[in-house]
Amino acid sequence: MTNALSPDVGSVIRHSRSVILEAQQPSGAYPACESFFAYRGFCWFRDGSFSADAMSAIGEVESAEAFFDWCARVVLDRRSRIEAIVAAARVGDPLPDSQMLPTRFRFDGSSVEDGWENFQLDGYGTWVWAATAHARRHHRSIDRWAGALRLTVDYLVSSWRRPCFDWWEEHTEAVHVSTLGCVQAGLASAALSGVLDEVRRKSAQTVVRSIEDLIAAQGLAPEEPAHLTKWIGSTVVDGSLSALIAPLGVVRPGSEVARGTVAAIESCLMAEGGVYRFRADTFFGGGRWPLLTCFLGLARLAQGDQKGAVETLNWAVRQAKENGDVPEQVDGGLLLAPDRRDAWVDRWGDVACPLLWSHAMILRLGQELDAVGPALGIERGLS
Ligand code: BGC
Repeated sequence: MTNALSPDVGSVIRHSRSVILEAQQPSGAYPACESFFAYRGFCWFRDGSFSADAMSAIGEVESAEAFFDWCARVVLDRRSRIEAIVAAARVGDPLPDSQMLPTRFRFDGSSVEDGWENFQLDGYGTWVWAATAHARRHHRSIDRWAGALRLTVDYLVSSWRRPCFDWWEEHTEAVHVSTLGCVQAGLASAALSGVLDEVRRKSAQTVVRSIEDLIAAQGLAPEEPAHLTKWIGSTVVDGSLSALIAPLGVVRPGSEVARGTVAAIESCLMAEGGVYRFRADTFFGGGRWPLLTCFLGLARLAQGDQKGAVETLNWAVRQAKENGDVPEQVDGGLLLAPDRRDAWVDRWGDVACPLLWSHAMILRLGQELDAVGPALGIERGLS
């Protein structure tokens, strides 16, 4: 095993930055993947917020801010809906899932009712976290997003405890630990950002503590060391959970739980260097995801495992096609459910590629490993 970055890292980093910049819409939205039938024409809060965070980390201030402006518009346009959700929750009569905020939007900020698994809370926490992290990183004022941030905080405070679809748009019946982590990261950073009045700040902090307590009581598997679980009451691990260690920073990298979570992902969800979403995954046959491999790399690096982080970046970069495009997932003869692959290809065509979120996570990890400056020929020194 080597500690050295592969020679291909530089060109994939340059390509990743171009893919994201070229795909970004005049409205600021980042498309998930325009060449993939099922994602074409849509921007997700989840993918987009992690992409904006990566662009911010590599110094693409304008691109990141155009995305946050877009998020703010999307949220402000739904002010009356959010106020209705908050009011209904307050009197103990919450609105049905179908009336909660959507997860994916057209580039102009509108949404469509087409049966998509729309009720997902994580992206609303992630945009708040990413926008506040961006403002701190670049010493930018957060005031331009203040109204939207406050509304998002109200939404999350009113509804964080509700079951909803997870990062993978599945299992609407459960409360997912990765979703809780995104909400916690958003509320914790909003509480420190100075945009909240005293009442909101206190409620945000109360929810942050409640989430910590809930995860400690019911979101850990009983193994030694304990690891975060896919949802409240489950015992299995999910590849998204390393995000709570880094970049979201809601689980201390040196803690037992962080060590247990990284160990569980490594032992249950890795094959030949790449990370699966979860053992029972059948989507496109259940391949390994470059973006999750980069999330694991960020967690390893936060724990001081530089060599392990370099290995994940090298693996992710090796999944690039000849033209540099990185897919959503890879097969490599190691699918978890190979017999399920063809049905997805028949339905939606080949795996999404290039997936902006995959490119974003390569940039984010590349930045942490000091590979972006040399690749782009500039000194940025940010992260
Ligand atoms: C994934 C989501 C993602 C969406 C767009 C779905 O297949 O499960 O996590 O947000 O694609 O990339």
